[in-house]
Amino acid sequence: MKECKHVAIIMDGNGRWAKAQGKPRTAGHLVGSDNVRTIAIAASEMGIKYLTLYAFSTENWKRSKDEVSYIMKLPAIFFKKYMQEFLDRGYRMNIIGELDVLPKSTQKVLYDAMEESKNNTGLNLNICMNYGSQREILLAARKYAEDVKNGIADLNLDEAGFEKYLMTKDFPPVDLLIRTSGEERISNYLLWQIAYAELEFVPESWPEFTPAVLQRCLEEYSHRDRRFGGVTNE
Ligand code: FPP
Repeated sequence: MKECKHVAIIMDGNGRWAKAQGKPRTAGHLVGSDNVRTIAIAASEMGIKYLTLYAFSTENWKRSKDEVSYIMKLPAIFFKKYMQEFLDRGYRMNIIGELDVLPKSTQKVLYDAMEESKNNTGLNLNICMNYGSQREILLAARKYAEDVKNGIADLNLDEAGFEKYLMTKDFPPVDLLIRTSGEERISNYLLWQIAYAELEFVPESWPEFTPAVLQRCLEEYSHRDRRFGGVTNE
């Protein structure tokens, strides 16, 4: 099968899924966070090395106070349940985003997860918290400008050089971007990193996104003709 190293997922539809079950939106987020474990294991078994998940965007602060505060508590619930298993499986946790504005207790859980797993070489499970791609690119540009000002960088920056300023500097480009729940938007996610990614929009909500659906996505991906701007060689 065509190599697919890096899969990114916009985990959408938790709220609608919960509402359809007569439950509060937060119940959808809890089931959604349990599904992160299920899909991480499946992805790793399917040979994916990098799984990057959109958990909370820079725009998600607009949600109700109760919902935001619940999502901020989820990492603690999630890692308490699953961190040991992730360590046993050799997964490395990376959190992407501006973490310094998150509640202190949330920051601690996230930094601990990164620290405890930093020497692991299995699946890179990347969770985006308070992440927005335009902001990421803006911050990178500011850092670069500062380096130029301080004489650390010159003006001959190329794409590979600019990538070193992004929050995803340690990861390869995204091969496949999946969005659940039928919406067909990118929503300020990994705009630089998906330059040549294949895109798939699936009708299932995130709580309904099973390993079989992931398998279906990878099968679809394997039929795509990735030319990266060149001509087909098939
Ligand atoms: C999108 O569904 C989901 C979110 C904004 C939150 C996603 C969070 C998780 C799946 C859990 C995160 C996991 C960890 C480990 C922190 P939505 O609420 O936008 O759904 P809707 O479009 O139906 O309203």
